[in-house]
Order: sequence, then C-alpha cells, then structure tokens
Amino acid sequence: MSLHDKAEKNVIWLVALTLVTVSIGGIVELVPLHTIDSTIEPVDGVRPYSPLELYGRDIYIREGCYNCHSQMIRPFRDEVERYGPYSLAAESMYDHPFQWGSKRTGPDLARVGGRYSNDWHALHMIDPRSVVPASIMPPYGFMAEREIEAEGFRAHLETLEFIGVPYSEEMLAAAEADLIAQATPDADTRDLLERYPRAVVGDLDGNPDAVTELDAIIAYLQILGRMVDFADYSTEDLIQ
Ligand code: HEC
Repeated sequence: MSLHDKAEKNVIWLVALTLVTVSIGGIVELVPLHTIDSTIEPVDGVRPYSPLELYGRDIYIREGCYNCHSQMIRPFRDEVERYGPYSLAAESMYDHPFQWGSKRTGPDLARVGGRYSNDWHALHMIDPRSVVPASIMPPYGFMAEREIEAEGFRAHLETLEFIGVPYSEEMLAAAEADLIAQATPDADTRDLLERYPRAVVGDLDGNPDAVTELDAIIAYLQILGRMVDFADYSTEDLIQ
C-alpha cells in the first residue's frame, strides 16, 4: 500500500497530516508579517487630518455618505481615467475606520479634493440639483445652520493619537483653536498650515460669521486625495 493510500484510509493519519500541511501554509503566511515593521509602505505627504477635516469626516460618517460613495480607486484603466491615480494603502492609514466602501450610487470621492471650488461644494451640499440637475443626492442644507462645537475636541485627537495617529503635542494643544481658525476668514493660519499642509483655509461655506458643519464637510472633501503629490507619477505607470 502506498503512503497516500495509508493516509487516506486511516483517519488518525489523515487528520495529523492535514494539520501538518495546513500549519505549513499558516506559518508561511504569518511569519513574514512578524519580521517587518509595517505592512503599509509610508508615502510622502500623508498626514493626520486637521481638526476641522476630522470634524467633517465625523459628519460624513454620521450622515452615512458611505452608503452612496466609496473612497477607493481601484488600479484599473477605467477607474484611473475617471477618478485619477488609484488609491494607496498609506492614504487611509490614519482613517479609523477607513471609508473605502463598495457602494457607488454616487461617484468615488477618494480624489474629489480640489476638483470643485468651495462655493460649488456649498451649493451642492445645500441643494445638489442646483448644480447637477439630474442628481439624486439628498440635500444637506441643515449643515449650514449647525455651528460646530469646539469644546472638548482635543480628546478626539488624543484618542486617535492613542491608537497610533501621530498627532504631536503641539497639534493636541492647538486642536480647539485650529478647529475654529481653519474656517474663520482672516484668521492667522500660518502655524495651522505648517501643522497640516495643503489644508483649505478661509470661509468655506459662504457664511463668514459662523463656523458650521458645512465648513467642516467642505474642509474634509477638499483634502481627499490631495495629501500625496501625484505630479511625479505618469498615469501610464498607474494603470494595470
Ligand atoms: C442617496 C445616495 C447619496 C448619498 C447618501 C450621498 N450622496 Fe453624494 N452623490 C450622490 C450622487 C448620485 C452623486 C452624483 C450627482 C451629483 O453630483 O450630485 C453625488 C455626488 C457627490 C459629490 C460630487 C462628486 C463628483 O466627483 O462630482 C460629492 C462631493 C458628494 N456627493 C458628497 C456627499 C456627501 C459629503 C454626502 C454625505 C453628507 C453624500 N454625498 C451623500 C449620491 C449620494
């Protein structure tokens, strides 16, 4: 009787050898992960969200925007030509939880930052059909009425810092001030921009008198896909 026949006809041998085979597979997959520091390659430009962007991200999650929008461009020609360079793992490394999603009733938003003006976003959020007549997106005009609550926001950054997002002591100390300053016209935002390069600053929602949820969601939408500078990559390199 060959070894194979023996193994197949004796249940003890069969179980033992199956376990050995499966463990080899497991070891081959698991051991390399413990010898490297990170499975995500860091990419220049990726930074933690500014307080106002983070506030906007919370609104995005609260309102369930992910039910209609994904934030992950796949490495295929049709996606790259429509949306831009495909998404990198590092771009979501500070997202807890990430917003990749798989449902696209509306377009992917991973590279929507900088595609439209702040005014366009304000109009679109208040009444999508005023700028895209055939849109089926619901209106979110109430965001323009709701002022943001800065008090205690530092704790939100601290929690993220605790789970690995590199907020510095300086960022934590300025959290609540930065939250307001980013959307206040004429505020001194030089330090803020050093802390959070490429953040959009100024009156974002068309209402200079208050910092509202609309300011926050626009700050968030405008940074999506803009942290990494893709100017050095040609699109051909990015298409599989
Ligand atoms: C019921 C589905 C639905 C929900 C929920 C939804 N959207 Fe949309 N969204 C759409 C559709 C459809 C479009 C395309 C038409 C348009 O531009 O309005 C769109 C377009 C957009 C665009 C323009 C994208 C582009 O590249 O042109 C942005 C920005 C956007 N949505 C943001 C949001 C945000 C922020 C939320 C949550 C507050 C949200 N959407 C919730 C369906 C939705």
